[in-house]
Amino acid sequence: MLRNICSTFIYVLTFIFILSQEQANGALHGTTKKMVEEANKKGPYLGLVIPNLFEMNPLLSNPEYKSTKLVIDYAGRRFRFGKIHKKPVILVMSGMGLVNAAVATQLLLSLFEIEGVIHYGIAGNANPNLHIGDVTIAEYWSHSAMWNWQRYGDGPENPLPFEGDGGFTREIGYLKFATYSSNGDDNLLNNVWYQAEEVYPVDGTPEQTQQAFWIPVDPNYFLLSKTLETMTLEGCINATTCLSTPPKVTTVQRGTSANIYLDNAAYRSFLYNNFNISPVEMESAGVALICFQQKVPFITFRALSDLAGGGSASTNEADSFSGLSAENSVIVMVEFVKLLAGYNRKLLKFI
Ligand SMILES: *[C@@H]1O[C@H](CO)[C@@H](O)[C@H](O)[C@H]1NC(C)=O
Repeated sequence: MLRNICSTFIYVLTFIFILSQEQANGALHGTTKKMVEEANKKGPYLGLVIPNLFEMNPLLSNPEYKSTKLVIDYAGRRFRFGKIHKKPVILVMSGMGLVNAAVATQLLLSLFEIEGVIHYGIAGNANPNLHIGDVTIAEYWSHSAMWNWQRYGDGPENPLPFEGDGGFTREIGYLKFATYSSNGDDNLLNNVWYQAEEVYPVDGTPEQTQQAFWIPVDPNYFLLSKTLETMTLEGCINATTCLSTPPKVTTVQRGTSANIYLDNAAYRSFLYNNFNISPVEMESAGVALICFQQKVPFITFRALSDLAGGGSASTNEADSFSGLSAENSVIVMVEFVKLLAGYNRKLLKFI
């Protein structure tokens, strides 16, 4: 009898062990698999990739967002289901940086029926013509920290190691550290050259590398988003504290991402002067690179919440207005989804 109880106990333990092993490895199993299949019957969805809770919470409390209460947790990520103006959406928080943004986006696209991806949040501003609180919609995104760091003594006339044939390139541009030395001296850090990402598009040949640096957002989404430039946004956090310039929605040529929190005026100017970059942040390029490769339309809305180092040291703009900026990025994104919900591709030609 005791022996039987013992072996039953061991059997149950083994079973539990196998179950937990299943949950620990990457494949989709059991309940989660069923939930994903059921959810996909109600698609296609718009996927909303959101950097963190600071930007997700204003959406969760926005009256235009209706949660369906369905939540699917997978691989450490939470996928929340809901609707915006009758449009089915899935929210996923990516976390900070390009790896997190790319992983969250790829999981979203691999698991679910997604017709398009919308990314939104706050950003630093490199464009001196724009103001804190403005919501930017960039036409192109790049990852600007894929570098080839040139040895001291070599210059723009010298080929980089592994240059050419789909390897490194001197075509995109470079940053010379000595340009920024306060006494005009040369600098042993020499030059860094900006490099394209290696991409593997879903319609390409596997293992055959392609290059991508400036990734365009979906041209139809971008065209549609121009109609948002007429929106009026909230410019005050309370009765007495307002932005000095009323915020606006604006399309811009370029934004860039890197795993770098940029708070440096010299580099900010470099990015604007050399690349015409407006929003700088840490995730959009990850979303862009995945959507570009998976051939899924995407767009990014980023509200400028600080000057990326361009402000005076005594005023920390991010502290006072980042909440308002996050809120405004949500409001613009929601308005875009509403446009998309009544979206007719034929009509778009006449905008
Ligand atoms: C408005 O917000 C500012 C910044 O947070 C704060 O210093 C000020 O006391 C607030 N004013 C009112 C009337 O709540």
